[in-house]
Order: sequence, then structure tokens, then C-alpha cells
Amino acid sequence: MERLQKLIAKSGYCSRRKAEELIKKGKVAVNGKIITEIGYKASFRDLITIEGVPIFPEEKVYLLMNKPRSVITSTADEKGRKTVLDLLPEKYRRYRLYPVGRLDYDAKGVLLLTNDGDFMNALVGPRSDVEKEYLVRVEGVLSRKQLKTLEKGIQLGDYRTLPCKTYLREASTKKNSSLAGIILKEGKYHQVKEMFAALGHPVKRLTRIRFGELTAEGLQAGEVRELKPHEIKKLLGKIKTYQMYDCK
Ligand code: URA
Repeated sequence: MERLQKLIAKSGYCSRRKAEELIKKGKVAVNGKIITEIGYKASFRDLITIEGVPIFPEEKVYLLMNKPRSVITSTADEKGRKTVLDLLPEKYRRYRLYPVGRLDYDAKGVLLLTNDGDFMNALVGPRSDVEKEYLVRVEGVLSRKQLKTLEKGIQLGDYRTLPCKTYLREASTKKNSSLAGIILKEGKYHQVKEMFAALGHPVKRLTRIRFGELTAEGLQAGEVRELKPHEIKKLLGKIKTYQMYDCK
């Protein structure tokens, strides 16, 4: 049993907040009875109607996008910039898809999109065990010793980063730049940029090359593909909380 507003959101009809408004306005009925109580619980085994029209669970969609630069990872942008949703093929536009975590406007690479809220929350939550691998071009000549510092975890304001893995691809005195990889299991806002900036090496370019075992192989910038059932299963296996949500 779940709260009525959550079921309405899961049907793709509208957001949870809008659903609460509809409930308060007396537009929602469960098994023929108008419900105006916000905490009311039901399930999709009940007949839920909005202004007399029945709603059903929305089909779950899981997409992998090769996000290009200069696109915002958001469902809308007040500055009118292009969002990742604007890049989706027409057939996916009817779903209420959300990006799983975020990639900065100037970053590119692997980005998942889904309408499965539990899956999304579990993947970006603190109990997610999924590796995210980034390739970064930074200013200046990085040393392996500096990368070891990152690996142990560094202090960023009042937060200490978790241990992680790194590698050095190139460190050029001539170009005064370096190329490094970093593999994190967490994803704080601007974390990779802040970690390298803390070492005195601002990030010039950032690409997420892997999310779990998923890469953007075969996808042009801006293209998407649906995840295969075994890929979804593998990601779910990594999530310690998802099964809990699932068998509620
Ligand atoms: N870390 C960042 O700094 N930016 C991203 O887009 C992702 C991780």
C-alpha cells in the first residue's frame, strides 16, 4: 500500500505535489469513493480515478544517454538552456523521465534517465555501491603522489571524500596539462572538479566514461538507447536498498 499521491505520480499523470492538489480538490476517487485525505493509502489493485478517468502504473523506462556538453541535466531550465530531455527521441517524450544524478552543463558522457523513482533514488543515494568513472583533463602537471592523496580521501569544506581509485594517463610539462581517471562510488555536487581544484589543478574537461558497467560505446553525442534487462538487473543487484523498496 502506498500513499495515493505517490501512486498518481507513478502512473505518470502528474507530479506528487500536483497529485496532492487534485486530492485536496476532491478530483480523485478510490473504488468509487472520493478521497480528500492526503495520507490515504491504496494500491494499483484498487480502481483509482482522476475526474472519472482510471489511472494505471506507467511502464518503466530505463535509458542510457551519451550526454553532450552544453546541455543541462535537468527537466527544465529557467535560463532557457537546452535540457537532456530536449534531446530525447519523440517516443520517449510521453514518459516523465528524470536524470539519475547529474552531469554538469560543461561535462559529457554516460547519463541514465528513468521514470522509476525508487531505482533512481537508490542509485544516487548514500547506500549505492555503483562505481562512476570520470576522465578529466586538468591544468598543470599532476603527480602520482597527488592522485594518491585523492585516493585516501580529502577534506572538501566540512565533507571528507570516501576512498577512491585513480590513474594517470598523461602529464605534460610542455602542454601544462594532465589527463587522469578517477573512480568514485559517491557523487557530491561538483565533486570531481572540487577534488582536483583542491590539489591546485582546475578541471578543464570532464567526461563520465562509466556508470557501473555501462559505457556510452556505440552512442553518438546526444543519442540514447534502452538498457537491456540484464543491465538493469545488474545495476539493481548493486543497490542494497532497492529490494527493500521492491518487496514493500
Ligand atoms: N563531478 C563534477 O564535478 N561534475 C560532474 O558533472 C560530475 C561529477
